[in-house]
Parts: sequence; structure tokens; C-alpha cells
Amino acid sequence: MKRSSLHLSKRLEEVGFSDIVQIRNKVMALRAAGEMIYGFHGGEPFFTTPIPIKYGMMQALVEDKTRYAPSSGLEPLREAIAHKLQTFNHMHVGADRVLLTVGGSHALYASFQCVLDPGDDVLLFSPYWTPIRELIIGAQGRPLLVPTVSARNHGITEALERYATPQTRAIYYNTPQNPNGIVFTRQDAEEVAAFAIKRDLIVIADEAYEDLVYEGEHFSIATLPGMAERTLTSYTLSKTFSMTGLRVGYVVAQEPWMTGLRKIILYSTNGVSTPTQWAALEAMRMPREALTERLEEYRKRRDLLVQGLNSVGLECIAPAGAFYVFPRSTKIHKDSRKAADILLDKSHVASIPGVAFGAQGEGHLRFSYSVPMETIEAGIAALKTFLC
Ligand SMILES: Cc1ncc(COP(=O)(O)O)c(C=O)c1O
Repeated sequence: MKRSSLHLSKRLEEVGFSDIVQIRNKVMALRAAGEMIYGFHGGEPFFTTPIPIKYGMMQALVEDKTRYAPSSGLEPLREAIAHKLQTFNHMHVGADRVLLTVGGSHALYASFQCVLDPGDDVLLFSPYWTPIRELIIGAQGRPLLVPTVSARNHGITEALERYATPQTRAIYYNTPQNPNGIVFTRQDAEEVAAFAIKRDLIVIADEAYEDLVYEGEHFSIATLPGMAERTLTSYTLSKTFSMTGLRVGYVVAQEPWMTGLRKIILYSTNGVSTPTQWAALEAMRMPREALTERLEEYRKRRDLLVQGLNSVGLECIAPAGAFYVFPRSTKIHKDSRKAADILLDKSHVASIPGVAFGAQGEGHLRFSYSVPMETIEAGIAALKTFLC
């Protein structure tokens, strides 16, 4: 019998929703029912958006800067971003290599759409930020999971060799990493770059947490010799400037990617909202010292949470970057979905099951420490009552 036409395109039927949304909904329902929940499940900065950024947007509105901006982004904003890329990331780029996007998510969506053909494979260090798998599948590619921890312990090149196929076209390279806070070193980047060059692969780099590095340094893979032409790097203002809801990010690349990215941006969003871009310009003008102060606040929270989780038997190390801790769940349950459910039911502590970030995340939970210190203290006290 002929199938009715009332179904999604095959491409989209294969794309899933993430567990994270379901957990967020459950927490919202519990809170709405009057329950006190210690929420470590989120993925956004707890700081409010800095005042100059908010005034930047208000001023743009008052001055009627509400019309279409160029879909690539406002020129002064692209210039300011290029300056930041030169001074902070050590990239030799001008504004002509920068395109504004609706957050880092859109930069990544556009990058995968630009690079992948149906049937292409993408190497993906796992555990990984959940939407990446779906972005690859949505571009009709196939994700190939490379276990991050064993790759770092036993050799990144060997691991990439082992999982690559003749159809491999790209590597997704995220540092600092969500969900485990790993910061890839310059040496790690050199290995990935050498592999990409040898196999003629494209690197889709994701540096969303570049400003949240506590140990070591952030290193942009696109700066290595031979990499600028084969790397599309995505950034976001969401995490650094507490602008998650404003939805602004950018992507940096060379031709032919720039032409492809421009097409995707033009036909998906036709650019970022104009007042948001003026707000983003204020963000780019903020002194970097303000970011250092925030980093210290995050570090305090990281240390408190790591110490607290270890004290209740949820073993973890202090991650070098981002704002997540990735402790073992095995003391509660080896199935991380069950472990997260048990913690939420018994101690009202909300976390994300590690398996949501790929098979290699199983046996772990993700806790965000981008929360008030009091939440960490109260959450650990609740865990102690339940676990100790
Ligand atoms: C690793 C990683 N990349 C990119 C993003 C994109 O963030 P946004 O779309 O808010 O800019 C996130 C957000 O959680 C992330 O964790």
C-alpha cells in the first residue's frame, strides 16, 4: 500500500531529540509542583548579561537600528571579531573571513551542511555535545565515535586511524569539551591536524568554551600550518558573555567554505537580528579583565563541586575547562539514565545521564557548576543524606 504523504522527509525522521530536553521538562514539572530541585543539569552561565551589552541592544532599538543588516553580519562587528581572532586566537584573518550566525549551534549546522555529502563519515570524539550527532545525521552523514579518554591515553593518531573509513570526510574537534571539560593541548591539536592533512579531511572546530580554561591554554587548531584552508571554526557569545538567549555566534573559514556558509546563512536565517548584533559589538568591546574575574568565580564553583562530589563517593577529577564535571555514576547505578532518575527522585538533584553524550559517556553523570555557590552546598548536603 502506498504510504501517505503526511510524513517527514527521511532525512529528518532519522534526526532525534536529546535526553537533555526531557530532563529539563521533568525538572520544570517538579518545580511547578512546588518541589525544591537542585539543578545541575543546565548548560548556561549563571551570571546575568553584562550591562553594556544590554544597553547596546536598547540603544539600537531606540535609534531604530531594526532593519535588515547584511546577512553576513554588520561590518564593525565583523571587524571587532577579526581583531579578537588575531589577538586572542592568533589567527591571521580579516573581517572577510568572519560570518555572524544565530549562536554557535547555527554556525555548526551551517558548517556540516557545507562540508558533508550523503554517505560521508565524520569522526567525533565521544562523549560529545549531543546535538552534533543529529547535525551530522541531518546532513546525511554518519558519525563515527572515537573514545576520547582512550585516544588521549593511548594515542590520538592511532585512535583516528582505527575509526576512520574510506568515506571519512571530516573531524569534529571541540575544545574545551562539553560534557567532560577536557581541554585538548597544542600537541593533541597537532596530532589531529597531521591526521586531517594526511587523509585530506576537513576539521569542524567548536570553541564555544574558549574563555573557560582553568589549567593549560586554549589553542585554536586552525592556526597550525596547512589547517586554515581545511578548518571551519565556530564560536558563540552565549557562554563567555552570558548571552544564551540573544542567539549570536560566528564562524571563521576560507573559500570555498565561505561561499557555502553564506548561502546557508542567507537561506536559513538571513542573518542575526540587527539589535542583537549591536549588543554583540558591545560584548566584543568589553575589556578581557572582566572575563578573568568571571573565570575565577567558575573556578571556585568547580573546586567546591568536585570536592563535594568526591566526598559522597561520586568520583571525579577537576576538569581543565568549560563548566561541567563528569563524575562516575556507578555508586548509584551503572546505567546512567537510572542513576540520574534515582538522584532526582531521592535527593532532588538534577543531572544529565552521561549516555546522553554517547556510549562512551555511560557510567557517568554530567553536573554543571555554572550555578550559585549555595546550590552547590545545598545539593551536596542533599546527596550526603542520600548516599552517605
Ligand atoms: C560544545 C558546544 N558547542 C556549541 C554550543 C552552542 O551554543 P549556542 O548555540 O548557545 O551558541 C554549545 C552550547 O551548549 C556547546 O556546549
